[in-house]
Amino acid sequence: MINYEIYKMIHVFMVVIMFTYFGIQIYAKDKVKMAAMWSGIASLLILVSGMGLLARIGVSHTEGWPFWVIFKLGVWTLITIATPIIIKRAKGFSKNWLYVMFLMLLTVIYMVQYKPEF
Ligand code: HEM
Repeated sequence: MINYEIYKMIHVFMVVIMFTYFGIQIYAKDKVKMAAMWSGIASLLILVSGMGLLARIGVSHTEGWPFWVIFKLGVWTLITIATPIIIKRAKGFSKNWLYVMFLMLLTVIYMVQYKPEF
């Protein structure tokens, strides 16, 4: 059974991997297939390890989730779905989108540290 510490190591490592490979794709002139593959794998493993962490800290997968988890899932969904579309269809905007992603990352780190309830 994977414990809390291992899940968190995977989770944070995959956050770094996902941002790195999205960054590579945003600054690359042409399509970088390997980077697209790794950003996809990393975003999936963020979700899987996030669910694992929820179970380890006692947040049920069926009952109502705290606001900070719903917020993080929203940010994850937005980054995972919008970024490949922006890279493909709005390359000129993609560098600005990277700043938006960093801002969302900072907000997510704040949310997971303080877990504010509204
Ligand atoms: C882009 C999306 C995400 C980012 C950048 C992110 C970032 C992080 C970071 C940096 C931590 C470690 C905080 C610490 O050291 O205490 C963390 C913990 C955690 N994340 Fe995420 N995460 C993301 C998505 C998700 C998703 C989708 C879920 C759930 C489905 C999730 C659930 C959790 C949980 C449960 C913890 C542990 C909280 C605790 O120990 O109290 N995360 N996340």
